[in-house]
Amino acid sequence: MDHKGVFARKPVADIIASEGGAFKALPKVLGPFSIVAMGVGAIIGAGIFVLTGTAAALYAGPALTISFVLAAVACGLVGLCYAELSTLLPVQGSTYTYTYATLGELAAWMIGWDLILEYSMGVGAVACGWSAYFNSLLVQMGLGLPPDLLSATGERIVRADGSAGTAIADVPAAVIVLVITGLLIGGTRESVKLNNAMVVVKLVVVLAFVLIGAAHVNTANWQPYIPPNTGEFGQFGISGVLRGASIVFFAYIGFDAVSNCAQEARQPQRDMPIGILGSLALSTVLYIAVAAVLTGLVPYPKLNVADPVVEGARAIGLPWLSLLIEVGALLGLTTVILVLLYGQSRIFATIANDGLLPPVFARIHPRFGTPWISQLIIGIGVAIVAATMPIDTLSELVGAGTLFAFVLVCIAVIYLRRAEPNTPRPFRTPWVPWLPLGGILACLGLLAGLGVYTWVRVGLWIAVGLVIYFAYGRFQSRLRAK
Ligand code: ALA
Repeated sequence: MDHKGVFARKPVADIIASEGGAFKALPKVLGPFSIVAMGVGAIIGAGIFVLTGTAAALYAGPALTISFVLAAVACGLVGLCYAELSTLLPVQGSTYTYTYATLGELAAWMIGWDLILEYSMGVGAVACGWSAYFNSLLVQMGLGLPPDLLSATGERIVRADGSAGTAIADVPAAVIVLVITGLLIGGTRESVKLNNAMVVVKLVVVLAFVLIGAAHVNTANWQPYIPPNTGEFGQFGISGVLRGASIVFFAYIGFDAVSNCAQEARQPQRDMPIGILGSLALSTVLYIAVAAVLTGLVPYPKLNVADPVVEGARAIGLPWLSLLIEVGALLGLTTVILVLLYGQSRIFATIANDGLLPPVFARIHPRFGTPWISQLIIGIGVAIVAATMPIDTLSELVGAGTLFAFVLVCIAVIYLRRAEPNTPRPFRTPWVPWLPLGGILACLGLLAGLGVYTWVRVGLWIAVGLVIYFAYGRFQSRLRAK
């Protein structure tokens, strides 16, 4: 064992051996179909159903399709790195575990802390999108909720009687998080079954939009393909395409969550690369198609709405399609919440198992077979975030946190090829170190497209993480206690 204070590194062999330890209780119930479905479940969500509209209307115009391609290239490079690491270390914890084996304990903790940001704020953002689609359905039934209960705390609202005010909290967003939390505590197998069914509906709806919409595209809406820059960085032009890519990057987040189910997969060596790369490829094709059809149906300046895909369906003039999309989006967003909440609890449990968080987070329920205390605490925390923070702030924060984690995954592949050359790698990332280096550059490029405020907020998050490590984790670490 490598003892170097905060740089203490967990050897790969130890990590693999620990598979039989604390997480033996997790049942191996996931096959390749369920894992791809989990990936697609986590990926296709608020990014395509909500953020696409803002990104087209304010930053990229019809060239949003290029933004999706750019973000997909970055995710593809990182996905190949994830695939290698998830077969080399088929255990819980994702990037956190990979970093523990490479850059050492402090970096691993910071990444774990960063993943908490990614998943919890990510669920918060998606729950806000869910709430908007949910209320839009209620409105169609004549049951719409008052705006006071539909936006983040303190957001400006206008009520039906024309009076202005500020929102109390986004209540439906908090409620859906708590309901899914209850479901996940009840058991992985049941949650996966429900997830698979909802993923199928989501895919059918997206495909229906693309196929029916393609026949109604007005190619004049694609002109100019890259609207001229307004003079400000990020507002149309080439820099707008880059800014658009940084925003829609959120749409791809989730393929990495697949690596969290390695310990519950029946054959992780085969199923992890299929799950990670398969779900990423499927989502990429669908995203580019949706972006092309959507910007062809509606002039891009009109897309800055909470439900842009429904706006596209309205442009076709088929009310049943609008309704179908509302329902599909609602189910689709539900699956993202489910998979990200699931991933988050597994990361908490893994970190607690290493002593960097209190042991209670790693406790598995004897009957349900799930880390129920983690799940419950996360559910309550995320429900508060979802009720009180707006979607754009949350999604940008999540983007920054995730890109940071992705850079470390690429570094881990390069490092482990040298440090552990003989450990079997059922899946090998091609062209190491060039491909991971390309992944790092692509992620840094996307990070550059995010706003300064996002950086300040991420900085604060990192500061809190450092305080927790130096006040608790450093003294409780199992690795260093040995
Ligand atoms: N990729 C996920 C979404 O778009 C987080 O909702």
